[in-house]
Amino acid sequence: MSRLGEPAPVLLLADGWEDYQLLDSGAGRKLERYGPHTVVRPEPQAIWRPALDDSAWDAVDATFEGADEAASRWSFARTLSQAWKMRYGEVTFEARFTPFRHLGVFPEQAVHWDWMAPLISGAGRPVKVLNLFAYTGIASLIAARAGAEVTHLDASKKAITWANHNQALSGLEDAPIRWICDDALKFLNREVRRGNRYDGIIVDPPKYGRGNKGEVWRLFEDIPELLSLCRALLSDDPLFLVATVYAIRMSSRSLHNGVAEALSDLPGTVESGEMAVADPAGRAISSAIFARWPQG
Ligand SMILES: C[S@@+](CC[C@H](N)C(=O)[O-])C[C@H]1O[C@@H](n2cnc3c(N)ncnc32)[C@H](O)[C@@H]1O
Repeated sequence: MSRLGEPAPVLLLADGWEDYQLLDSGAGRKLERYGPHTVVRPEPQAIWRPALDDSAWDAVDATFEGADEAASRWSFARTLSQAWKMRYGEVTFEARFTPFRHLGVFPEQAVHWDWMAPLISGAGRPVKVLNLFAYTGIASLIAARAGAEVTHLDASKKAITWANHNQALSGLEDAPIRWICDDALKFLNREVRRGNRYDGIIVDPPKYGRGNKGEVWRLFEDIPELLSLCRALLSDDPLFLVATVYAIRMSSRSLHNGVAEALSDLPGTVESGEMAVADPAGRAISSAIFARWPQG
């Protein structure tokens, strides 16, 4: 316990991957393996020295280069497939080299997939899960595989098409997943009015985003409303809520306080901290903060 009487922040390490590895890190970059491909991407947090020598870093398949976002791009050592399959547990999905340096999967999110799946499968009753800002849908597929009826929401049609493709790759075509292309806040307000409820909610909002009709999402301004709408949408016997935030100057304590306030009438405690992957030399790179309920 911290002096505030709350659990101290935790560092959750995603170490259950076969198809992903952080091979090395340092000198402002990270060397990773996504399925068959090795890639180098900028990582300003890696302020230490790489453990592997230059030859390992030079032998990669693809490098994301460029100082500023506008001029950044992938460069390839040879002709590569631009899309390939990866697996986490029983879920299969497609990874791609996106212009935004991401590959369609955020490996550190696995700590939440491993946490929520047994909550769903062990509930012993029908479970409804809402996945907001759901992107390529891996969390939706893991929840569906664990037995949940899932509502998957994203404002981007392209992202939903990618998630649909991942559903087919995972052999979950018949799973009860409702695909919704909408603005998150608009949808939540509508769901509250309609009286729909969910047993588990996953939220991974970006710092800045656009709804499908151009609605503007700004994390700091909008997250209080988002969390209180999520609270209103939780069922009478809720199982979980997990919120993650990437690449932003917000502490996990701040997100913790927001979630704790929104869920203050529920029993149990909120757990918060950082999500990371570690290289073989033991250097963990934390890319996101989280707060989730209930703890443990
Ligand atoms: C999963 S979030 C953040 C992904 C990743 N964790 C990061 O920080 O880059 C990104 C997703 O949110 C979606 N999005 C952005 N603004 C939205 C909005 N107002 N309503 C619904 N989805 C939105 C985007 O289409 C995208 O798929």
